[in-house]
Amino acid sequence: MNERAAHILDEVRKYHQDVQDGGGFVPGVTEIWPSGAVLDEEDRAALVEAALDMRIAAGRSSRRFESAFARRMKRRKAHLTNSGSSANLLAVSSLTSPLLGDRRLRPGDEVLTVAAGFPTTVNPILQNGLVPVFVDVELRTYNTTVERLERAIGPRTRAIIMAHTLGNPFEAAEVARLAEDHDLLLIEDTCDAVGSTYDGRPAGTFGDLATVSFYPAHHLTTGEGGCVLTSNLVLARIVESLRDWGRDCWCEPGENDTCHKRFGYQMGTLPAGYDHKYIFSHVGYNLKATDLQGALGLSQLDKLDHFCSVRRRNWRLLREGLDGLPWLVLPEATPRSDPSWFGFALTVDPEAPFSRAALVDFLESRRIGTRRLFAGNLTRHPAYIDQPHRVSGELTNSDTITEQTFWIGVYPALTEEMIDYVVASIAEFVRSHG
Ligand SMILES: Cc1ncc(COP(=O)(O)O)c(C=O)c1O
Repeated sequence: MNERAAHILDEVRKYHQDVQDGGGFVPGVTEIWPSGAVLDEEDRAALVEAALDMRIAAGRSSRRFESAFARRMKRRKAHLTNSGSSANLLAVSSLTSPLLGDRRLRPGDEVLTVAAGFPTTVNPILQNGLVPVFVDVELRTYNTTVERLERAIGPRTRAIIMAHTLGNPFEAAEVARLAEDHDLLLIEDTCDAVGSTYDGRPAGTFGDLATVSFYPAHHLTTGEGGCVLTSNLVLARIVESLRDWGRDCWCEPGENDTCHKRFGYQMGTLPAGYDHKYIFSHVGYNLKATDLQGALGLSQLDKLDHFCSVRRRNWRLLREGLDGLPWLVLPEATPRSDPSWFGFALTVDPEAPFSRAALVDFLESRRIGTRRLFAGNLTRHPAYIDQPHRVSGELTNSDTITEQTFWIGVYPALTEEMIDYVVASIAEFVRSHG
């Protein structure tokens, strides 16, 4: 780095300190957001450094972030995308690739998923002409079980995609075994669960593919952004092709002829020697991320352990502080898991002398932010009512979630003082009603 750039970056770090909000926490006045980005002076400097270099498309930093993140997540390959939703679209689309031969999913094949989830975990199933099969989840863990999945398997069921809800891993080892026994492909939506483990093994390492979101609410942020992880090199190649317009060539931007055969292929009905850079083997997209995102991701990655440990501490303080309060169903970690929590879910007992709306209004009036457990029961949304799908069993708990559940934040900007205030506020509300 030249002297001028080093000077600018020093100034950027000082600027960052100057614009920090020095005001302390004022209960009832300071917003307690449910989620958000935690960005420090190094993040700001990383973005400016990438900007000074004018690395505006994918480049050096995105490649470095891909390999560092893959290493950290214990997968062989990571492909950055412009969002977690795009990562899910790529992961599901990759299962339809001709390169998978007989294992390839075909239109009308079924994919198991949960009804209480995030829409873009499910949408790629429909976008690929596949049929989602919705199963119910448990209250407290907000994940489904192997038994529910097993009961849902039909003759055309070929894959499973579902999220580790709010960072809490589903029974990943057992689900992976079920998938293997029934020749199903498994995608772990790990968008909310970076850093979580099941049986001591990272979430995102049990399936054929895993996806991550780097939107500001998530464990790491690149602004908008996401990533597909896999250790299967065929799937990695398919994901890359689908992400990069569907091309067959795998040269990075700015590279040429890394296979030493750029003009040596004959594919489809193209003339022999057609430039491999322009041969398309998939009906693809362009879902790439930029180098600014890569630079921010690298800088954020240094702080991942700290972020996860504060998330765990905040969740534990909420869990201990609210323990024993009547009318609230408190969350529980899946046995044998160590979640790196995304949020703290609360379900108001339907028999409670107060409604979810009243509790949420009270918290919001104290500037304590709340969120719904995403869509609740997706099948009740206008978008899905007329879409092809199958429901396995009853969706009773998904309906309860739609009507009674919300979550509050644990993200690393929340201090112990804020969490104490959240606990005191909920306790005050519940006791005043009972
Ligand atoms: C479980 C889950 N999957 C997918 C996504 C989509 O990620 P993105 O917002 O980056 O598109 C989210 C977003 O919060 C999510 O929570």
